[in-house]
Amino acid sequence: MSRFNNLSRGNCAACHLSQPTQNHRPPLFTDTQYEALGVPRNAKIPANQDPNFYDLGLCGPYRSDLHAQTQYCGLLITPSLRNAATRHAFLSWRV
Ligand code: HEC
Repeated sequence: MSRFNNLSRGNCAACHLSQPTQNHRPPLFTDTQYEALGVPRNAKIPANQDPNFYDLGLCGPYRSDLHAQTQYCGLLITPSLRNAATRHAFLSWRV
């Protein structure tokens, strides 16, 4: 947990907030903000079998309302990490 919160190491908590919420609820492990991280392409995601497919987050293809706003291409929401230790696959919600 120290690297998770350490500003000069992982600093994961900058986006995956690890402090209790303002109304004293357990941490959400997300700041609900959008980031462009450039996560490598995962061949196990079925949609990626098509070499012309790219999940560009806010500007599509799953979301269509911001398609013309190219400044948002590549921005994806920071997911919560709640129960992450019990999962065997990550980013699998990106179908
Ligand atoms: C700049 C903000 C930011 C920081 C710092 C950050 N993350 Fe994330 N994290 C994200 C975003 C955005 C995604 C989603 C990426 C995507 O969909 O391509 C993500 C995804 C993840 C996932 C996948 C979750 C899932 O549901 O599959 C894990 C696990 C994770 N981060 C762990 C970490 C760890 C551990 C650190 C620190 C070493 C860290 N993150 C630092 C923003 C951040």
